[in-house]
Amino acid sequence: MTAEAFEVTIWRPEDLGVVSEILTTASETHGIPYDGPDWFVWKFGDSPWGPAVVAYARSNTGRLAGMVAFGRYRLNLGGSVFDAGISYETFVHPDFQRQGLFQRLLAVAEQEARARGAAILINFPNAASKPGFLRSAWQEIGGVQTWLQPRRPFRVVSRLRGLLRREPLVPSAVAANLVSLAADLSDLGPPLAGNRVEPPNRRVHDVQYLRWRFTGYPQFDYRVVEEGDTSALVRLGHRAGLRETQILDVFSTDAPAGSLRPLIRSVSTATDADMVSILTTPGNPITSLLPRMGFLSVPNRANFFAKCLDPELAAGPPSRWAISGVDIHTW
Ligand SMILES: CC(C)(COP(=O)(O)OP(=O)(O)OC[C@H]1O[C@@H](n2cnc3c(N)ncnc32)[C@H](O)[C@@H]1OP(=O)(O)O)[C@@H](O)C(=O)NCCC(=O)NCCS
Repeated sequence: MTAEAFEVTIWRPEDLGVVSEILTTASETHGIPYDGPDWFVWKFGDSPWGPAVVAYARSNTGRLAGMVAFGRYRLNLGGSVFDAGISYETFVHPDFQRQGLFQRLLAVAEQEARARGAAILINFPNAASKPGFLRSAWQEIGGVQTWLQPRRPFRVVSRLRGLLRREPLVPSAVAANLVSLAADLSDLGPPLAGNRVEPPNRRVHDVQYLRWRFTGYPQFDYRVVEEGDTSALVRLGHRAGLRETQILDVFSTDAPAGSLRPLIRSVSTATDADMVSILTTPGNPITSLLPRMGFLSVPNRANFFAKCLDPELAAGPPSRWAISGVDIHTW
């Protein structure tokens, strides 16, 4: 079969008929269960920043063969706001792989994103799709770091073997009161500014977006922990038998450049954590504070890629980017 045998279509939020097929094929390809059509409609159709760009393909026998999708995003780059896209889904069913379909889907999705006004696309690809993105002239930015702070050091040491095996974080199911979570999200200050002179490249702060994202289709135990003028948006989970609280982002009305120790202590106490973790890039104002607060940098294999659709834009090095867990975990 040649690539010409595939028909590529752009999904519209009213095309509900194809959703179950997409979910089944994605689940078979990734080997993990997927949520139902309500989840799809929420994630791909309902964002306050607009419906996702979804390109899907059918084979000449009518089977769903693959999909490339970008959620609509907004990035503040060097002080100016740009429409953007963030990768949501990339798969080609094993029956149709190695025929160039991924490249074709990616080209169609990029063209559609550009037509809808996106100036830049970002992505955190895995090892399987990384070569395909490089072939499509995506740029590797890199720099994603994981930091851990043991709160119960003896317990953490007793589970070191599992941690070294890189057991994944298993997020806990929803437990928080969603009404109060929505209210807490509305009260957040701006993202932590620290003492950076230049504003870093980062997601635009928008309460509507956060409320949609964290309370629109609740799946995991997300919470907001406040301490004075600062707040942390966190998710709770388990890794290697340890209770881990992952800080997804830090917000502050007072732009403190100093220590966030009281906030980290409150996060740990409020969520009964054995360890606290955080994902950053070097340009995130929180990054330089972490070593002084006893956070340890641990190996991270996440890739961070970008493609500028607007030729006037430059993505720049990791030191320009304030990426956080909110950007990396896009389910
Ligand atoms: C990653 C993935 C999307 C790639 O899809 P794909 O359609 O097979 O990708 P392509 O065909 O464009 O390219 C894959 C390989 O086939 C080769 N290829 C392309 N056309 C070909 C053809 N006509 N004949 C033979 N090989 C071909 C490419 O050169 C490439 O080879 P390489 O990886 O050795 O460099 C797919 O493997 C997948 O869904 N994997 C599982 C899910 C996953 O990991 N998704 C990524 C999440 S971030």
